[in-house]
Amino acid sequence: MNATTDLWNVHPRHRWLRGERPNQPVEFDDETGMWHIYGYPEAVTVLSDPATYSNDVARRFVPGADQWDFDGNLTQLDPPEHRKLRTLISRAFTPKMVADLEPSIAKVTNTLIDELDTDEFDLVDAIAYPLPMIVIADLFGTPREDRDLIKQWADDSLAERGQIKAKDEDGEQTRSIASQRDDQRKMNDYLLEHVANRRKHPKDDLLTSLVQAEVDGDRLSDNQVVNFASLLFFAGHVTTTMLLGNTLLCLDAYPEQMARVRADRALVAPAIEESLRYLSPLASAYRATNVDVELGGTRIPKDQMLEVWLAAANRDPRRFTDPDTYDISRTPNPHLGFSQGIHFCLGGPLARLEGRVALSILLDRFAELRVDHDRAPEFLTSPDFTGVWTLPLRARR
Ligand code: HEM
Repeated sequence: MNATTDLWNVHPRHRWLRGERPNQPVEFDDETGMWHIYGYPEAVTVLSDPATYSNDVARRFVPGADQWDFDGNLTQLDPPEHRKLRTLISRAFTPKMVADLEPSIAKVTNTLIDELDTDEFDLVDAIAYPLPMIVIADLFGTPREDRDLIKQWADDSLAERGQIKAKDEDGEQTRSIASQRDDQRKMNDYLLEHVANRRKHPKDDLLTSLVQAEVDGDRLSDNQVVNFASLLFFAGHVTTTMLLGNTLLCLDAYPEQMARVRADRALVAPAIEESLRYLSPLASAYRATNVDVELGGTRIPKDQMLEVWLAAANRDPRRFTDPDTYDISRTPNPHLGFSQGIHFCLGGPLARLEGRVALSILLDRFAELRVDHDRAPEFLTSPDFTGVWTLPLRARR
């Protein structure tokens, strides 16, 4: 896959996708004013120690980020606030709620395939994008038909998303964040209408559960519900879209593994896990040092911003044998695609379920699924993500 990555718009920072290894596991980068963490054990150290490595990053270090409203945003919180909010949210977003979605995920996938009037289609447009979007809209109880509206806000916001930096000498980052914030506001206004409606008319949906969830007598404010719902809408669909597309891309590049998965559906789940390792949809996570630390033999002072490259750690040969090979037989596969520690992806079980159900159905419904190499796939341009945003396929039923 390495020879073609340049054609596919792979971000220049993602050197590990070109078969290159980082020079060191921990490196300061003057251009971004941040420390980049590439090594697996170093990433695990950071992610497992929230007292030393804080998630309160954006407000403290990212110029322009003071324009965001972080109320209710789990990703920016440390204990004890993080534990309290995550417990509240987990009461609404339960494993049962997720498991119960399986039949509806299958139904939506089948309907999307039924609606195809050709066997040459873009997997992202036709299935990988609408599926998670419909699933989240159903969870929230918002109209499925609004998905194009939401896609537009998400696309606009993604188009603006460049490399986040700890310095902003030309004001470019502050301007870009202002534009993303405007898209965010449209989404938040939309969600606020639905939240206000659920307070008056409770329904059997996640927004109602979030509005009603209680820990120690405390409830979420409207603003917190809206900000959290907005995070779910965004975090939950873009990444899951990429997971599906990336898995198809990997299986196409390794036809013998595609044949194994076709022959034995028990291999669908490991194929999804290996895809999370090999092309990790969320490429990095941010942290800040609360104290002076020594990491990977390098001294990092306190109050520094760190970008932990989950995608690079997932290719660290110290942890994964032959890391540049997509291999569905890896056991165990301790990838960091959903991170680790207290911020471990809250939607991981849902993303895995969607990936597993959709891939199985695609294999059932199509005797052949090949990437159309005359129309190259395109990766999302933001360095925070690794994944295809278009994936033209040639299929045979
Ligand atoms: C956090 C990846 C799907 C909701 C995270 C983190 C990662 C991640 C790496 C942790 C970042 C950190 O350590 O700072 C992914 C990937 C997905 C996916 C690769 C799909 C393949 C979803 C879905 C939802 C979701 C479907 C919900 C519907 C969240 C939330 C957090 C989170 C709420 C914040 C958790 C916290 O800070 O405690 N995700 N995610 N994600 N994810 Fe996901």
